Amino acid sequence: MYGRRKFISFLGKAGLGAAAIPPFLTSCGNTTTPSDSFRQGDEEALKRLKDLIVEGLQPSDQDDLLLSNGLDYHTIIRWGDPITDEDSFGFNNDFTCFIPLDESDPTDGLLWVNHEYMNPLFVSDFDARKYDNPKEHRTIEQVDKEMYVVGGSIIRVRQENGNWKVVKNDPHNRRLTAKTPIQLNWDTPIEGKSTVFGTHSNCSGGITPWNTFLTCEENYQSCFGDTVYDENNIATKVPGLYGWENFYDYPPEHYGWVVEIDPKSGSAQKHIALGRFAHECCTLYELEDKRIVAYSGDDKADEHLYKFVSSTSGSLKEGTLYVADTINGKWLSLDWESQPVLQEKFKDQTEVLIRVREAAKLLGATELNRPEDIEIDPITGNVLVSLTNNKGKNDHHGSILKVEETNGAFDSLTFNASTYLAGGEETGFSCPDNLAFDLSGNLWITSDMSGSSMNKEDGPYMPFKNNSLFVVPRYGKDEGKVIRVASAPRDAELTGPWFSPDGKTLFLSVQHPGEQTTDLENPTSKWPFDQDGIPKPAVVAITGDLIEKMNKLRQIEMNEV
Ligand code: FEO
Ligand code: CA
Ligand code: CA
Repeated sequence: MYGRRKFISFLGKAGLGAAAIPPFLTSCGNTTTPSDSFRQGDEEALKRLKDLIVEGLQPSDQDDLLLSNGLDYHTIIRWGDPITDEDSFGFNNDFTCFIPLDESDPTDGLLWVNHEYMNPLFVSDFDARKYDNPKEHRTIEQVDKEMYVVGGSIIRVRQENGNWKVVKNDPHNRRLTAKTPIQLNWDTPIEGKSTVFGTHSNCSGGITPWNTFLTCEENYQSCFGDTVYDENNIATKVPGLYGWENFYDYPPEHYGWVVEIDPKSGSAQKHIALGRFAHECCTLYELEDKRIVAYSGDDKADEHLYKFVSSTSGSLKEGTLYVADTINGKWLSLDWESQPVLQEKFKDQTEVLIRVREAAKLLGATELNRPEDIEIDPITGNVLVSLTNNKGKNDHHGSILKVEETNGAFDSLTFNASTYLAGGEETGFSCPDNLAFDLSGNLWITSDMSGSSMNKEDGPYMPFKNNSLFVVPRYGKDEGKVIRVASAPRDAELTGPWFSPDGKTLFLSVQHPGEQTTDLENPTSKWPFDQDGIPKPAVVAITGDLIEKMNKLRQIEMNEV
């Protein structure tokens, strides 16, 4: 993994204590030396850094992107901005992932951005509330507009005088939409096809060790509905929220997968072996023998945590998919050949993978409180999983689960699970979603309280006000505290945090500002304050002294500056 590999080597360089080093931290051959503006002898600067206390923000319901002292932002791109003469940036940007074109230059590269879903009111001027029978008023022109703005964008971005700018018309710039042809990385066709149309519902994602992007199809059922089975195994089609199935005959089974994108060619494939569910993310780890471990959570209440372990190097097809029993600390195999209980219900492995939620339940997998993002803690090697909430189980604020694989082996079939951080008023955050680690291993967390439940008097989310970005320092005076460092505009969610390779920029999406708008003349947010007064999802770059100081906390702790 480009970012993580560099990072891990950085930590190795910074001198983690031998006892604390999981095997993967020492096995990385990269010898990158972190840049360091603090030199030996600059005692005053060092003392200031040691005394660093991050000035957290108070909860706010202000319609703006607010940042702590020491942070600045600029907008890189927003919905509708042209990326070429033909194509424009999509709606509701989520996951971001930056890969430099040349590893020696961290300021010039390709940014992948997910476009998770769209709001018809803004995108296609369709307002279902106006009609008694909205379906009769839908047009194919509206649906085509909606299908265009989801999927993802590849854009070349370059830092000029400190600001990241899109290189318009760069030959790498392209859109993937709900109509782009995509191959299935599987030998058996699904619903008769080996190449399918489009990707959508792209929430979070990941990066591969061979430097390609992974984008994950989450709430796919909104677009073309889904197929559900009753106790007699009889299938019924459930309609989608957007009703695209009334215009295009694209089977629901073609969605709910992890999709891999080649940054340079834009070619894409869907990885069937990783199972079909509401994939939030896909976090890869490369074992010493180059086999791949892929973690992914199903962000639906009472669904599960999965792990794929490949049997051959670099494969996301050959291998075994497991689901977690977090009570007993076991990874349960979803292999049809070796599980009679799966053979009784499903005809083959392909059917197990398409209906993997049902298969997981048959095996006794643990129901979780909506697993969202997953990241591997570079300091401990533990796997952290955001469990955002589960209102049906009275868990309003969620938590972060810690999975410790036995002996730190990522292909282990046993593990220990415990709570790493619990949301709530005491810790100051609610509904954790995306996670990211900076160069020191400090943990950055974004929250996802829904637009319809935030800032409601007497509701459980009132004390937290707008969604936010938090940092949990791992060293120094603030160690272990959850500190609010950014507050989102109204109704928005901050998503897709991703550090540039030099650690100095945090790419961040501002998703669905003004989502609760019912009248375009009176939107609930006006961010980013364009002249037309319409709120727009956008990707921003956060930079500043605070990030650079946070990146040095580990070195200071290790007395290396
Ligand atoms: Fe799209 Fe699970 O957040
Ligand atoms: Ca998410
Ligand atoms: Ca979410």
